[in-house]
Amino acid sequence: MGVSGKKILIAVSGGIAAYKIHFLIRGFVKKGAEVQVIMTPDAEHFVTKLSLSTLSKKPVYTDFYSDNGTWNSHVEMALWADVMIVAPCTANTLAKMVHGMCDNLVIATYMSAKCPVFIAPAMDLDMYQHPSTKQNLKLAEDYGHFIIPAESGELASGLIGQGRMAEPETIAKAVEDFFNSGHTNKSLEGKTVLITAGPTYEAIDPVRFIGNHSSGKMGFSLAEEASGRGAKVILISGPSSQVINDKNVELHRVTSAKEMLAKVFEFYENADIAIASAAVADYAPKEVAKEKIKKNDDSLTIELIKNPDILKTMGEKKSHQFLVGFALETQNEEENAKGKLEKKNLDMIVLNSLRDEGAGFKNDTNKIKIFTRTEKKEFALKSKDDVAKDILNFVENQLLK
Ligand code: C5P
Repeated sequence: MGVSGKKILIAVSGGIAAYKIHFLIRGFVKKGAEVQVIMTPDAEHFVTKLSLSTLSKKPVYTDFYSDNGTWNSHVEMALWADVMIVAPCTANTLAKMVHGMCDNLVIATYMSAKCPVFIAPAMDLDMYQHPSTKQNLKLAEDYGHFIIPAESGELASGLIGQGRMAEPETIAKAVEDFFNSGHTNKSLEGKTVLITAGPTYEAIDPVRFIGNHSSGKMGFSLAEEASGRGAKVILISGPSSQVINDKNVELHRVTSAKEMLAKVFEFYENADIAIASAAVADYAPKEVAKEKIKKNDDSLTIELIKNPDILKTMGEKKSHQFLVGFALETQNEEENAKGKLEKKNLDMIVLNSLRDEGAGFKNDTNKIKIFTRTEKKEFALKSKDDVAKDILNFVENQLLK
């Protein structure tokens, strides 16, 4: 597959490494890609529009307007691209990107882009080491961008260390690997994804129940995202006001943990990926009163018995499925999450801590950490839709290993 036929937008900012971009463009064009180059005004001090446009076979833009009065639409270029590569990405351009300082064509185009973004930073040793650069690279990663780290060696300043832009072959390989890895919009085509969502309600009598505040939003966002990537989705949700109108999502509404368990095992065998985001009640009343319980006495005791652990049962019966659990913790978060990963025989666990503001049950946002047996990744506070993207990106990367 590679880059043949792909539309590649290359944004060049003003660093000496800009001279290497000629080789990157030439390599892509030779492999059949279409390349559009844009530059920051400073980049013109290092490379000429003429050399870049000769190689890319397209006009190169640095400004919103060309001399002949034509408008160089940043939105059009951004939406045209299959990928955007910012290389070299200077400390200045990186900072502007992650903080939305939209004062030139490159940043305006970047901010309009919906495609994957690759960033190849290039700067001097101390700039690369600076906490602000580190923080900005982390932010860029949190936005879902791919960072192609700078390499070590002799820098233009004469200093020796990390800061040299990755070689054009390294950048090209990262982009080609991306296209080859099936990170296309339909990256889950042919897969069945089973998702549990929402709370469960455990009846006490005909009108009362034990429940929790789970909204179901995280599970519904996961279902939408998985479906968008081409998967067939079986969404099993406890009582929730969330709705979904998607022909690839088969929604089954259940009430109690027992019902959820039964429904899950109707579909588990055929699932490729199973994600348990439901907040299942741990206990249910031993007996459900047939009639509404009257308030005759001063106190009322309800005996509770343990509910089935749906996820643990999925772990016990796991054959080929990639199994993902959630952990919502208030103390010893990481230790407890990792414990659950082992105890429930999971492949991956998503931890959200109630200590983090904006994370958890009722919010539209979430802040997560993901653990596998060997890896840990922490993410910034994001909308649940964006968190769903991070989770599925992580799952897809694990499946490729
Ligand atoms: O053990 P704990 O309830 O903290 O584990 C949380 C994870 O287990 C979540 O993924 C949740 O969906 C799942 N779970 C389950 N059945 C239960 C309890 C939790 O599937 N009875």
